[in-house]
Amino acid sequence: YHVDWDPASAEKGGFSSFMEKEINDQPDAVAQTLLGRSDLNGKLTLDEVRIDPELLKQVDKIIVLACGTAAYAGLVAKYAIENWCRIPTEVELAHEFRYRDPIVDSNTLVVSISQSGETMDTLMAVRYAREQGAKTISICNTNGSTIPRESDAVLYTHAGPEIAVASTKAFLAQITAAYLLGLYLAQLRGNIFSGQIKDVLADLNKIPAKIQKILDNAGPLRELARSMKDEKSVLFLGRHVGYPVALEGALKLKEIAYIHAEGFAAGELKHGPIALIDDGQPVFVVVPSPRGRDSLHAKVVSNIQEVRARGARTLVIAEEGDESVKDYAEHVFYVPETPTLLMPLLTTVPLQIFAAELAGAKGYDVDQPRNLAKSVTVE
Ligand code: G6P
Repeated sequence: YHVDWDPASAEKGGFSSFMEKEINDQPDAVAQTLLGRSDLNGKLTLDEVRIDPELLKQVDKIIVLACGTAAYAGLVAKYAIENWCRIPTEVELAHEFRYRDPIVDSNTLVVSISQSGETMDTLMAVRYAREQGAKTISICNTNGSTIPRESDAVLYTHAGPEIAVASTKAFLAQITAAYLLGLYLAQLRGNIFSGQIKDVLADLNKIPAKIQKILDNAGPLRELARSMKDEKSVLFLGRHVGYPVALEGALKLKEIAYIHAEGFAAGELKHGPIALIDDGQPVFVVVPSPRGRDSLHAKVVSNIQEVRARGARTLVIAEEGDESVKDYAEHVFYVPETPTLLMPLLTTVPLQIFAAELAGAKGYDVDQPRNLAKSVTVE
C-alpha cells in the first residue's frame, strides 16, 4: 500500500495553491473572527479593546490607516462605522497620511488595519498618530506583531496564517472585525438600539454559509476566468460599498495575473472612464441590492447598459433574485441576499476566485507573484 504525499501539497489541503486554499477558508475565517465576541443577547463583548470607554465616547473623528488590500477593508469599514456610529471617518493610505500634517488630537481614534502587523508604512503612521495624542486600535491577523504591540488596543482577526502574497481571507476577516468595532462603538455611545445590533450580528453569523454557497457554485466563473487569460485589461465598477470591492477585484488581478485592471466608482464612469470602453472590453459590475435605499441599484443597472451599448462585455455580480440585470449581462454571478452594508463579504469572493483561476490558467505562481512581498517592512 502506497500513499503519495508531499508536504507542500498537504499544507495546501489539496488545493492548487495557498491562495485557493485561503479563498476556500473564508467561511471559517469570518466565523472565527466573529466567535466569542458577543453574548446571546446580542451585546458585543470586545474585552480586548482596552481603551477607557469614557475616552471612546469622546472620540469625534476616526481615521483608518492601512496599505494595499487592508486599505480597501478600511474603505468598506467607513460606510459601516459612519452609518452605525455617526462619527466622521476618514480612510487614508498610511504612507500618505503622515507626510501631510494631518489633523489628529486626543479625540481622534486611529484604527490601523494590517494582516501582518509589520507593514512599515502603517507602523510609522500609527506611531505618528500616537505621538499626536490619538487613541490607536489595531485590527491585525498576526499575534504579537509590532503594530498591535505599539497600539493602545488590538482587535485580532482570526483568519489563521495567510501564506499567499495576495490577501484574501485576511481581507474578509478585517472587514468583519471592523464591523464588530463599529457596532461596539455604536453600542457604547448609544447610537443604535441593541435590537439593531443583535440583528446585524445575526446577519453576520449567516455570512459563512453564504460564502460557502458562492464557493460551491463557482464553476461557471472559473470557466469564464480561464477563457479570459489573454485579456489585456479588465475594468471593475461598483458603487457605495461595492466601490471598494471593485478596487479590490482590480488589485487582485494586477497582483497575481499581471493584467492591467482598474476599479472605479460607477458614478464616476461618465466623468472619464467611459472613454476607455471599446468593443470587447471586459467590465465587471458589482450591483447593489435591489432592496437597498436611494435607487442605487437602478443607477448601477443603467451603468451596465451604458458600457454595454459601447461594446463592453458585461460581467455582473448581483444579488440572488435580481432578474433586472439579466438582459444587459453577458454573465451574471449571483451572491446570496444580505443587508447592503455586509455585501462586500460576499461580492468580493467571486472576484478573488476569478483572479486566482485566471492567474493559474496563465501558468503563473499564484502564491508568489513577481515583485511583491507578503509583508513590506521597509518604507
Ligand atoms: C503588501 C502585500 C499586500 C498587503 C499589503 C498590506 O503590499 O503584498 O497583499 O495588502 O502589503 O499588508 P498588511 O500586512 O499591512 O495587511
